[in-house]
Amino acid sequence: MKEILFEDIASIMTMKSAHLKEGRTIVESDLSIIKDACLVVDGGKIKWIGKKSQLPKTYFKITKKSLNGFNVYPGFIDCHTHLIFAGDRTPEFEMRNKGISYQEIARQGGGILSTVMQTRKASTVKLLELAQERVNECLSQGVTTVEIKSGYGLNQKSEEKILQVANKLKKINVITTYLGAHAIPKEFKNEDDYLKQLKDDLKIIKAKNLSQRVDIFIEKNYFSKEKAKDYLEFAKSLGFSVTIHADQLTRSEATLLAIELKAQSADHVICINDNDKKKLASSETTAVLLPAADFYLQCQYPDARKLIDLGARVALASDFNPGTCPTQNIQFVGLLARLQMKMTLPEVFSSLTVGAAYALGLQKQKGALNTNMAADFFVSKNKWNEFFYDLSNIEIHSTFIEGKKVY
Ligand code: NIG
Ligand code: FE
Repeated sequence: MKEILFEDIASIMTMKSAHLKEGRTIVESDLSIIKDACLVVDGGKIKWIGKKSQLPKTYFKITKKSLNGFNVYPGFIDCHTHLIFAGDRTPEFEMRNKGISYQEIARQGGGILSTVMQTRKASTVKLLELAQERVNECLSQGVTTVEIKSGYGLNQKSEEKILQVANKLKKINVITTYLGAHAIPKEFKNEDDYLKQLKDDLKIIKAKNLSQRVDIFIEKNYFSKEKAKDYLEFAKSLGFSVTIHADQLTRSEATLLAIELKAQSADHVICINDNDKKKLASSETTAVLLPAADFYLQCQYPDARKLIDLGARVALASDFNPGTCPTQNIQFVGLLARLQMKMTLPEVFSSLTVGAAYALGLQKQKGALNTNMAADFFVSKNKWNEFFYDLSNIEIHSTFIEGKKVY
C-alpha cells in the first residue's frame, strides 16, 4: 500500500502519554491531543504523526486525503463481547423487571442455556449474517477492534461453528476467545465431567488455530475457582492466554486467581474486597469493567474509583450479549462509567483504547496513534469533551482500519 497523508485535521487524540503510562493513573494531558495535525500512513501503520506545520518535506508530494477539518480519535477497542448468538431473550428482561433474578431465570431454563439452544440450531450462514450486522454497528460507533467470545455452543461442533464465524467476519479486527466454560450444558452431569471434555476440546481449538485465548465464568452454579484453576493452567500449558469472568454476582476470589495465573484480564470484578483491589492494582492483569451489563442487571457497579486510584489499569467494554447486555452502544458504556462509577472523561477514553488494548495483549500495535502502530481511527466533528454525555449528539463521520475506510 502506498503512503497516504491524512490532512485538514482539527485535532488528533493520540493517547501517546496514556500509552507510555501503560494505561494507569490517566489525566487529561495523557490524551496527548495535537491540534492542526496530520498523519502519514504507510502499509497500514502510522509513519508520521504531528502538527501540520512540522510535516517533513518528504511527505509533501504523496497522495493526500482531507478529513474536512474534523477530529481524529484512536479506534475504540471493545475487549469483551459475546457478539455471536442467535435468537433473543427479550422475555427475560420483562421477568427481571418483575423481580425475578438472573440466577432464578437460569434455573427456570432461561439464561445462557436458552441462547445455547437457539445458537446450536442456527446455520453458519445465518450466524455470520447476524454477526456481520453487529460488526457494522461496531464500526459505526468508532470501534475498530472487537473481542468475541464463543460460549453459546457448549459442544465442540457448535463452539467451532461460532469461532469459525468470528474468524470470517469482515472489515473489523477480531480477537476470538474460547468460552466453552460459559455454563454446564444439559448433556453433562457435573462440572468435573464437562471440564474433562473441555480439556480435550481445547486441544482441537489449538490444533485448528481457532483461538489463542481462553475464558471461564467462575460463579456459583457455573464453575468453581478450584476447578477453573486446573482448567486454565492446562490452557496455559497449551499456549493460550487466559482471562476470567470474575466475581460478577458473588465473590469467589476469581480475581485473585486471575492475578495468580497472570491472566490478561479479570472481567466484571464487582464483588471484590479492598485487598483484592490492591492486589489487582499492583498486578499486570487489566481490570475490565462492564457497566452496561451492571445497568441492565440493576446490580452493583465495580469500584472503579478505588481501583484507578490504587493504580490499576482499567478497561471498559460492552459485554454485548443477549442476556445481560443487549446494547452495543459504546457511548452508553462510557456515560455509565462517568455517571455511575465516577470515572473522569480522560479515564474513559483511555479505558476504551489503551486499557482495552492491554486486556487483549495488543498494546504494541493498538490503542494509541503512535509511529509504527496501526492506523486504526475514527473521524468525528465532535470535540472530545462532548463524548459520553448526550447519547444522541455524537456523530462518527467515518472509521478507518489500517488506513482504509471501513465505515
Ligand atoms: O458476561 N456472565 C456470563 N456471561 C455473560 C452473560 C451471558 C448471558 O446471560 O447470556 C456476561 O454477563
Ligand atoms: Fe461476559
